Amino acid sequence: MIKIAPSILACDFTKLEHEIQDVERGGADLLHLDIMDGHFVPNITFGPIIVKAIRKLTELPLDAHLMISDPEKYVGRFIESGANKVTFHIEVEENPTELASRIRNHGCKVGISLNPETPIGKLESFLTLFDSVLVMSVHPGFGGQQFKPDSYEKILALKKIKKDGNLHFDIEVDGGVNLENSNQLIKCGVNTLIAGTTIFHSKNREIVINSLRKPYE
Ligand code: DX5
Ligand code: ZN
Repeated sequence: MIKIAPSILACDFTKLEHEIQDVERGGADLLHLDIMDGHFVPNITFGPIIVKAIRKLTELPLDAHLMISDPEKYVGRFIESGANKVTFHIEVEENPTELASRIRNHGCKVGISLNPETPIGKLESFLTLFDSVLVMSVHPGFGGQQFKPDSYEKILALKKIKKDGNLHFDIEVDGGVNLENSNQLIKCGVNTLIAGTTIFHSKNREIVINSLRKPYE
């Protein structure tokens, strides 16, 4: 089962309610919220206040993708605001085991993310802790960038580790996902496609969501 997670970074924020309900009606499985602090990444987006407002607009599970330097300090605020999953970056967390169990103890799911230059080896020993592993296929910070093809190799390696270890985490890919690469990504082992521009810059979100999930042969 392939899950589709629209990233609202590319939506029309003047019509946030309509945009979110449109992808919910269109069959999205979860909503991807890009939280940027202007420090871990060279861009600033929004924080827990907006997550709390979004919580009131949708029944979809909310995944807070924390592109912030100090996730330990802020995870509690995002969980209180209604996030169903918190995804933090391995590059900034010295104690992923402790942070993962703190998040889980709040009844929240937990994901780990890695930047394009970060090798899988950095998180291999922690993989049992996470509900999902998010492979960044662009340098985080902005929507609308081009997919980095070396991500395929990383996803294949992750799929192998998952199979060999009989692990159950979702494999997510984020950045430059479109109708040209979705098929290949699914074949490589991705089961959650995160897409901003491809979904929100299209007129018919339902058709795009369905096409991403069941790509043309
Ligand atoms: C990038 C974000 C992505 C981004 C994806 O730093 O983590 O979630 O919104 O946007 P597209 O799909 O436009 O590349
Ligand atoms: Zn993201």
